[in-house]
Amino acid sequence: MIDNDVMFVRAAEEHVAQMHEIELEVFPTPWSYESLEQDVCGHEIAYYIVGLVNGRVVSYAGFWFVLDEAHITNVAVKTEYRRKGIGRKMMELLLEKAQEMGIITVSLEVRVSNKAARDLYKSLGFSVAGLRKKYYANNDEDALLMSKIMEPMK
Ligand SMILES: CC(C)(COP(=O)(O)OP(=O)(O)OC[C@H]1O[C@@H](n2cnc3c(N)ncnc32)[C@H](O)[C@@H]1OP(=O)(O)O)[C@@H](O)C(=O)NCCC(=O)NCCS
Repeated sequence: MIDNDVMFVRAAEEHVAQMHEIELEVFPTPWSYESLEQDVCGHEIAYYIVGLVNGRVVSYAGFWFVLDEAHITNVAVKTEYRRKGIGRKMMELLLEKAQEMGIITVSLEVRVSNKAARDLYKSLGFSVAGLRKKYYANNDEDALLMSKIMEPMK
């Protein structure tokens, strides 16, 4: 059950440093501070949200969009805040936003070994659309490409 104390807002410049701390903690090949900052503050082709607890960033997720397609770039929850429904809630919020924007296809890559994330995406209606061999540079792991076709807004 999601903790009521988590507040989700659109990511802004003031969040980037704490988002990057999580990026470093969570991903073996983290984005640079500058790449994250450019996505969050540039805003033309990217949309990011953060989860805040007492004003501190505990999670973030985002996508890039072009015309009617969106690609989820990162989904990350600080280790001590996992399994509380935060990852699911962020994905639901991103999918709602994508639907509002008229996006039809949402895609993402996930490590073959990342069962937690694969299960989450599957439960939200994503299915496997392909395999990207040796996609991850740190260990040559394959990525599954997963995608979801959105229902048009009524
Ligand atoms: C993947 C991640 C974002 C999930 O966030 P979370 O807040 O812990 O997830 P939730 O509590 O919302 O769980 C949602 C679903 O994900 C799946 N899941 C999450 N953690 C899991 C785990 N450790 N083992 C198996 N399934 C898991 C389950 O299907 C779960 O649904 P359930 O609670 O009904 O069983 C989080 O584990 C994380 O930040 N991992 C490191 C970064 C990462 O791998 N990001 C994804 C890159 S593609």
